[in-house]
Amino acid sequence: MRQTIYLDYNATTPIDPVVRDAVLPYLGEHFGNPSSDHIYGKDAKLAVAHARGQVASLIGAKPEEIVFTSGGSESDNQAIIGAALANAHRGRHIITSCIEMATSLI
Ligand SMILES: Cc1ncc(COP(=O)(O)O)c(C=O)c1O
Repeated sequence: MRQTIYLDYNATTPIDPVVRDAVLPYLGEHFGNPSSDHIYGKDAKLAVAHARGQVASLIGAKPEEIVFTSGGSESDNQAIIGAALANAHRGRHIITSCIEMATSLI
């Protein structure tokens, strides 16, 4: 039997079974878009609101302070744009390193 060791947790990780079981119904029977007004959307919207409350209480935040994004790039953009807007009074420029530039070209 071939034995392998997974060393790419930087790229992705297996989902925790507890998380998988919690998410699974929303990939099947409760597939609605939470932005939609019909019952499928309303069910999904309730689930997102519940999750938002759980995350907020976990880190001592208010639910309205929790922003869910679609992935890494959107999260990066939210953080960079948010920091830039919050600090616009200090200057209208962002300084980064050549390492970041190299990473974005890979
Ligand atoms: C910091 C960072 N930004 C962006 C990404 C790209 O993620 P996505 O493909 O979800 O936009 C990743 C992926 O791991 C990441 O770690």
